[in-house]
Amino acid sequence: MIQSTLQKTRLPGLHVGIIMDGNGRWAAARGKARSHGHRAGARTVRRIVEAAPELGIGILTLYAFSSDNWTRPPDEVRSLMRLFKAYLRSQAEDCARQGARLEVIGRRDRLAPPLIREIEAAEARTGGSDRLLLRVALDYSARHAILAAAALRPDGPIGRRAFADLLARGMHSAGPAPDVDLVIRTGGERRLSDFLLWESAYAELLFTERLWPDFTSADLEEAVQEYRKRERRFGGVPAATPEANPVRTRRTRHQTAHACQYF
Ligand code: FPP
Repeated sequence: MIQSTLQKTRLPGLHVGIIMDGNGRWAAARGKARSHGHRAGARTVRRIVEAAPELGIGILTLYAFSSDNWTRPPDEVRSLMRLFKAYLRSQAEDCARQGARLEVIGRRDRLAPPLIREIEAAEARTGGSDRLLLRVALDYSARHAILAAAALRPDGPIGRRAFADLLARGMHSAGPAPDVDLVIRTGGERRLSDFLLWESAYAELLFTERLWPDFTSADLEEAVQEYRKRERRFGGVPAATPEANPVRTRRTRHQTAHACQYF
């Protein structure tokens, strides 16, 4: 069984997963190619990574490229792969300075060797950081990860904890991350698209029309506030006492006007 490095680090706080959708529409609205939207999306990634620890986020998992995204036009796939490589090369140093440990989860057998080398270099460079664990999901499919873990299973039944270790191993993660607390999807669609299906069993889900390149740190803050208002029961019943079950705070008109409008 893999010894989880996560348990040895501090990494407190929420685990937030983000499905970053809307780059293509953002570019089309400006009469530009989709790659222009992806580059704008990468700038948003930088801003959100910087803001996350201040908002109490300890783990941030970003859905950058799903295993089904290989079906996109070759030009778009090429420009995304170039962008990931450039991001890892240019941001590893910044991440280390900000205390963010970078980890790329997903398959590696279909990635080009220069990209794999960049991933390994970024992971090594940031390996000592523990203010934020930044997990970038690349050639990622939750169903594939679950199948890969099942294939690694030793004979006989195993528990959730042992399965989570296998799941991490199957997607090149140093160890199992805690369950996801909150999944945010930008771009207006309301689906999970094969993202962290095992880890999000009890995650709160927030959807916003905001396109990813327009998503700001204020939007992330609002999402965290909205999450904190939710009552998480994990299959139980509402807490009995008023102290343990505070009345939801109503939004002021000012807050509503600037709201990202989560659903
Ligand atoms: C989905 O929007 C977005 C992607 C498939 C790519 C996500 C990539 C980034 C945000 C860029 C950089 C990421 C990192 C980690 C450096 P879409 O293109 O499907 O948008 P659409 O639905 O409007 O067409």
